[in-house]
Amino acid sequence: MKKVVVMKKIAVFTGGGDCPGLNNAIKQVVNSAEGKYEVEGITEGWLGACESALHPERREIYTPKLDVLAVRRIEREGGTILMSSRANPFKYTSEDKSVVKEDISDLVMKFLNERYHAVVAIGGEDTLGAAGKLAQKGLRVIGIPKTIDKDLCGTQFTLGFDSALNAASFELNKLRSSAGSHGMVYFVEIMGRRAGHLTYYSGLAANVHFMTIPEVETDLERLFEVITERKLKEKYPGYHRDGRRYTIVAVAEGTNIRGIGEVLKAKELDAHGNPKLGDVSEFIAEQYEKMTGDENVRAMALRYIPRSGEPSYQDKIYGKRAGIKAVSLIEKGDFGRMVSLEADRTSDVPLIDIVDRIRILDAQVCFDTNRYVPVLSDRYYPEREVKK
Ligand code: F6P
Repeated sequence: MKKVVVMKKIAVFTGGGDCPGLNNAIKQVVNSAEGKYEVEGITEGWLGACESALHPERREIYTPKLDVLAVRRIEREGGTILMSSRANPFKYTSEDKSVVKEDISDLVMKFLNERYHAVVAIGGEDTLGAAGKLAQKGLRVIGIPKTIDKDLCGTQFTLGFDSALNAASFELNKLRSSAGSHGMVYFVEIMGRRAGHLTYYSGLAANVHFMTIPEVETDLERLFEVITERKLKEKYPGYHRDGRRYTIVAVAEGTNIRGIGEVLKAKELDAHGNPKLGDVSEFIAEQYEKMTGDENVRAMALRYIPRSGEPSYQDKIYGKRAGIKAVSLIEKGDFGRMVSLEADRTSDVPLIDIVDRIRILDAQVCFDTNRYVPVLSDRYYPEREVKK
């Protein structure tokens, strides 16, 4: 008689802001699971899990089957085929508003543990923070780190960071020709809520003249002083009118301005308690013009450009490494762990260790707080982990 083998089922989902590299990890989870587990996606991150838990009759909508054929070509694209959201099972507002800001985490865990042998959550500190808290309650979950902000604890690299870094440094460098032709001061805003990794390394790679990062309070008077000083010092008589020199300042979205704090776009917080930041470059440019009288100033924000498009080679490879590791942790039954991507190896750390903590630049080592320029040391990644 032919033996019928019933395979266990696992799920994979992506939460938080999208970024390049997510599809690569999804694809590798599916490929590594082939012949061992059936795989389903859960759409829109925790939203799909919450809606499925609340509405059993609608589960099929949120849980598409994934197989090798379905994911065959997805690694060439950024974003996520499973879509994403910033939903939080500990503070969930349902699509039909039948629950508003409620903790439905127990219900979600029951649904996931009953339907799946294990769940792979691909996310940043919010999505994986929720996964970590659920793992403590008993959810069989593995985390894969992703964020262009690179502010997750327990891992050196996160999916999306390298792609965003390449894109942001490309754009910063490109601006030189326009800024240079008009002797302009450009304040260029780059995403990064609480950590300046993306601004710092893209600015470093593009050789910008100054930068502001969330880790260090920015004194606008002092920043404008160093910009003005540089313009006067570096004049080429007969070449630049009035000795004007162009300047590019990379400005992290979460720049903390002395006496003001962060520049908020909206007061409401998302389900994870994050404010909506933005337009800080606009604000700084206005202040610059007001305080120095120099009208040759422009503000712009790279916004979603660094987060979009094809993944870098590095992120494509991280996606593979992370997917392989996640499935091997499931096989070993090592739940409640996050894949940790390091330069020379892939390891894993307890998910609970990343909850309510972030990894920021160690500005004391890598930043000149008086001149707003990076300082290079022999530490390759000067950073530290702190409470959120
Ligand atoms: O969390 C990652 C991030 O890139 C932050 O730097 C930024 O504040 C946020 O996403 C903005 O994303 P969204 O507009 O999609 O909420």
